Amino acid sequence: MGAIIIIMHEFPRDFFWGAATSAYQVEGGNSFSDWWEYELAGKLKYHSGQAARHYDLYEQDFDLAKELNHNCHRLSIEWGRIEQKEGVFSDQELEHYKKVILALKKRGLEPIVTLHHFTNPIWFSKLGGWSSRGAAKYFLRYAAKVVEALAGDVHFWVTINEPMVYLYHSYFLGVWPPQEKSLIKTELAKKNLLRAHIKAYALIKSIYKNNNLSSPMISIAQNMQAFVPCKPTLRNKLVANLRARSFNLEFIERSIAAKALDFIGVNYYSRSVVELQGWGVRNFAMDVCDGKHSNLKKNSLGWDIYPEGLFSILISLKKYKLSVFILENGICTEDDSLRWDFIQEHLKNLSRAMNSGVKVLGYIYWSLIDNFEWDKGFGPRFGLIDIDYNTYKRTVRESARKLAKVCWEGKL
Ligand code: BGC
Repeated sequence: MGAIIIIMHEFPRDFFWGAATSAYQVEGGNSFSDWWEYELAGKLKYHSGQAARHYDLYEQDFDLAKELNHNCHRLSIEWGRIEQKEGVFSDQELEHYKKVILALKKRGLEPIVTLHHFTNPIWFSKLGGWSSRGAAKYFLRYAAKVVEALAGDVHFWVTINEPMVYLYHSYFLGVWPPQEKSLIKTELAKKNLLRAHIKAYALIKSIYKNNNLSSPMISIAQNMQAFVPCKPTLRNKLVANLRARSFNLEFIERSIAAKALDFIGVNYYSRSVVELQGWGVRNFAMDVCDGKHSNLKKNSLGWDIYPEGLFSILISLKKYKLSVFILENGICTEDDSLRWDFIQEHLKNLSRAMNSGVKVLGYIYWSLIDNFEWDKGFGPRFGLIDIDYNTYKRTVRESARKLAKVCWEGKL
């Protein structure tokens, strides 16, 4: 009789387990943000409205996160709330976020706080947004206010969420505010985002130092895709490689070169199958194959489920000799058993990478609750917790309970 080999995946005792949200996607009522203005002007198909009403119901949501054995939680601060008018900061909103952070700490959840997650105050976008000269200066003034208010209770900061995804949708494809389709503006905004991160890094460190607080851990959340060539032609392989370098690694490498990265924040969802169809800049940046021949399972937005991509990405980060933190990994689906398969397979690949020497601080699932999926509206369901958008009732999904067991036992 052949022996059945069961491979156990064990995670360190001090591993962080949690889930993420972003302010605009869950809070509701973010009427001072550029997205809101575009939604009301009919420039976007869906209206975020009350989102998941997390602004009022955060305690309920954190109770559930605690019940699910999470020991950390990633959230973002809505710049438009804090600075509704240029240079005027709302003490009341700063106080709100302080309460949110304390609500997490009270439940034993380590807060991981993002300063910019795709949205901007309306006044900032009117002044030209991220492609304008003063962008980093405004961001830093806001960052200083927030960090001064929260420093005592926060150890992990994420300055910018997914700079490349933001640039791609907002400045290159023109689907997200400010709906630009300009290579020049994409480049300008990219420079400003990088400058904003590097300067914010130094600023945050100095605020902690001046207040005699122990040095915080600061990074960006970098969306990384597994770029694989479709037909393995030389040019597809070349472009897959180039895209990985620019999309996945450029911000990371430049931040490391500027000594402005304490760990590598990774958001991983899927792969991108490269199939070059021409020689223009847009071909280089965007061409993918239609994927019809792919037999991989997909999420409800049609993205390939490709857990081994997480392994190869993590291995490719080893050379930087920095710890990695998975700040987002998740699936939108109507089929909750597929969600559990997705989580399990990604955790197995994570564990394999850790056994191969990659130091990983934690795993954060996207998302804690169903939410407003940007230009795709409320259809895609990423949450560990279901939201009924008529009653705002929260219902924990089965996959969340299974993950809770892993968080508790530290093994899979
Ligand atoms: C973003 C989230 C988004 C998720 C799923 C990430 O790129 O940070 O805001 O909801 O992916 O698309």
